[in-house]
Amino acid sequence: MNDDSASGIPRRLTAIGHRGAAGHAPENTLLSIDTAIRLGAQWVEFDVQHHDGELWLMHDLHLDRTTNGSGLLTAHPAAELRRLDAGQGEPIPTLVDALDLIEQRIGVNIELKSWNGCAAAVAACLRDYLADGWPAERLLVSSFHLPELWEFKQLLPEVPLGVLYCGVPLEWAGLAAEIGARCLNVSAEFVDTKLIADAHERDLQLNVYTVNRVDDLERLAAMGVDGVFSDFPDRVLAL
Ligand code: G3P
Ligand code: CA
Repeated sequence: MNDDSASGIPRRLTAIGHRGAAGHAPENTLLSIDTAIRLGAQWVEFDVQHHDGELWLMHDLHLDRTTNGSGLLTAHPAAELRRLDAGQGEPIPTLVDALDLIEQRIGVNIELKSWNGCAAAVAACLRDYLADGWPAERLLVSSFHLPELWEFKQLLPEVPLGVLYCGVPLEWAGLAAEIGARCLNVSAEFVDTKLIADAHERDLQLNVYTVNRVDDLERLAAMGVDGVFSDFPDRVLAL
């Protein structure tokens, strides 16, 4: 994911727009993704959930926080979900909507947020885009749910993987290396210089989520982090 690899030179943080550019536009919408692209982010991250034959860009299990709907996403048929407002009149997009908007202009990190066939559905979708010439290196599939991520790896091994940590396991970055991931994406509250060093020794990049304060961005850049997920990718790029 990181574009600067020269050793001994302070790393430039890769700017990964979080849920698009969620500080500027409603999260996980096409407007948010388009904003991340317009701001110049190198990568964009969004969450996908599999339900009723579609892959929906949605972080929460429930619709209430980010849409004008309510209840579980999985309690609604696709036709109803398509009519909801996810903010500023934006619909809840599908993975196909997002990829068709992006058109290879930016790296895409798809986070698997459900475990009900999500990996298989994402693999089937991405297979078509790879066949059309989308470079696998410009895709990253990540998850906190490692069995789901492992299933994805069996189905589409050419797409790089990111392992999400919300803590520091006993084996440091070992789990991510074991699964054959490209990167380890760690919650900002658990960043540890030993974890960064261990990831780098294992040839894994280490990215941190979700970082919006400039002083935190500066601190993480000095620690040698490779990239950050930010609702404000413009702040990362301005460092
Ligand atoms: O992928 C990084 C980050 O998005 C993981 O946490 O809760 O924002 O999906 P969350
Ligand atoms: Ca996410």
